[in-house]
Amino acid sequence: MLKTHSCGELSLQTIGQKVTIAGWVHRRRDHGGLIFIDLRDREGIVQVVFNPEVSKPAYQIADSLRNEYVVQVEGKVAPRPPGTENPTLATGEIEFIASAIRVLNTSKTPPFYINRDVEVDENLRLRYRYLDLRRQRMQENIILRYRVIKFMRDFLDKRGFIEIETPILIKSTPEGARDFLVPSRLQKGKFYALPQSPQQLKQLLMAAGFEKYFQIARCFRDEDLRADRQPEFTQLDIEMSFVDEEDILNLIEELFTSLVKTIKPSFDIITPFPHLSYEDTMSRYGVDKPDIRFGLELRDVSDVVAQADFDIFRRTLHNGGRVKGISLPGCASYSRHQIIELTELAKYYGAKGLVTLPIGNQSGDASVDTSRSVAAKFLTPGQIQGIASRLQAESRDLLLMVADKEAVVDRVLGQLRVEMAKRLGLIDSNLLAFVFIVDFPLLDWNEEESRWDPMHHPFTAPREEDVPLLDTTPEKVRARHYDVVCNGCELSSGSIRIHTRELQERIFQLLGYSPTETEQRFGQLLEAFDYGTPPHGGIAPGIDRLVMLLAGEQTIREVIPFPKTQSGADLLFGAPDEISAEQLRELHLSLQDDL
Ligand code: AMO
Repeated sequence: MLKTHSCGELSLQTIGQKVTIAGWVHRRRDHGGLIFIDLRDREGIVQVVFNPEVSKPAYQIADSLRNEYVVQVEGKVAPRPPGTENPTLATGEIEFIASAIRVLNTSKTPPFYINRDVEVDENLRLRYRYLDLRRQRMQENIILRYRVIKFMRDFLDKRGFIEIETPILIKSTPEGARDFLVPSRLQKGKFYALPQSPQQLKQLLMAAGFEKYFQIARCFRDEDLRADRQPEFTQLDIEMSFVDEEDILNLIEELFTSLVKTIKPSFDIITPFPHLSYEDTMSRYGVDKPDIRFGLELRDVSDVVAQADFDIFRRTLHNGGRVKGISLPGCASYSRHQIIELTELAKYYGAKGLVTLPIGNQSGDASVDTSRSVAAKFLTPGQIQGIASRLQAESRDLLLMVADKEAVVDRVLGQLRVEMAKRLGLIDSNLLAFVFIVDFPLLDWNEEESRWDPMHHPFTAPREEDVPLLDTTPEKVRARHYDVVCNGCELSSGSIRIHTRELQERIFQLLGYSPTETEQRFGQLLEAFDYGTPPHGGIAPGIDRLVMLLAGEQTIREVIPFPKTQSGADLLFGAPDEISAEQLRELHLSLQDDL
């Protein structure tokens, strides 16, 4: 190699040895007759000293160096002169006395600082991603990602799982998003679909008798992008035969717990992971991916205010809606201006309005300053007391209530809860609060299209005791589906699958697929069920999201080496891009501008 040591590994132990290092010029300082270079490689930074009395030619070359030049330096490690040690640097006790230097490559001035952790426009970072990835934070994130994946592989290998690759050019396997399609050159007018996940393939591997499968699987979904969504992302895809829910959940709990303890032991975790039913989760947190690091739980006060002489409450309840609320600790003194701002926020989340009740001073005193609450005028002291006790209010709390359809109330309060916890500093950023969500309904009514959608995917098994309800009250059928949520982020979904043709065909029929469509899209899976497919189930943790949480980042783009922008663009390569007329012709495609 062009180096004998890496910059970061040099220490007092290396003193006296003749060493060659190579890396990037991180920073250069000229100090009256001496030139100091901070030389950086993947393992760290070391201070290199060029002294004309040690080597004049080396000193002269050092004088011409600029940031990000790539150099190879020969020399010796020496202790730093007393008083000049740098405790913030791993190599801060030593310096490198250069006797020779070779410039391996020069560099233009980079478009942003690589040696400082400063805010840089994200599009510029993505355009020059290879430079962005040189920055310490990004190096750490990508190395963390590698460690996480390596840990997963080793963990599953020890438990008898084998990693099997599945194809990228396949046929649509639905996960609720649009497919990315690839036109076939050899078969005119036909298209492959990129897998939204290897769902059917891993089930077929169970049919094939592999029993314990995993894959670090790339998935492709053409959907609206967000902070935690990319068009291509990576799952730890797992499938097992002869299991029930507890087997999968125990495996995942052990995996996540040991992974955090080994790779990021500075995080606290709660074990065992709590299990929450979907219904309980929705009613307490308003969302199916709750952040349980703080309280501020939603509580239903519909029964308490049912008799209130307050038009909004009465009308909402009469129309089948609900009134629910949360209690903000110590916020009773919010000004009129702050209340208006909160109300605007609630409206932004979809509420028609926000009812506020500031609670009085003394503990146990639910008296409300009526001049500061419109609703208080319409509520009796008994009703106010009832609301305060239902919301477990303490003195000086501010109660927030929303009246609307249950889904709207939950959505608004669920979001207000998280936003207010942030503002009030109630979130412990050192905690990874994993939680299992269980007992999901199998189906979700799609209002717009007047049909049932699968809550997870169509291969999820219903609870055996609920199967008879498929014909009578499908909305009541519970699924053998589970999610893993952490700090308000959906980390994994999975389920025990259907493994018989009869039940699977019944579900497809309920979802509105015609027999021909079922056969055309899912014939391969149904056929496998005819040949002794064992009972099986699985799960797929999203690796990008997990690494994002472990890295303390706000978006998965920060933990993906080459991510896309919000509009799906790769700014480095300039993809997606136009293709030539020749390529279009080969693929039997023509573009129509007016479509
Ligand atoms: P699901 O669709 O819930 O389940 O996906 C599983 C996990 O993958 C991650 N994820 C994403 N991450 C980044 N960008 C995206 N666009 C994206 N979409 C999903 C999430 C999510 O929890 N085949 C089933 C799993 C199974 O049943 O075994 C599936 O894919 O972390």
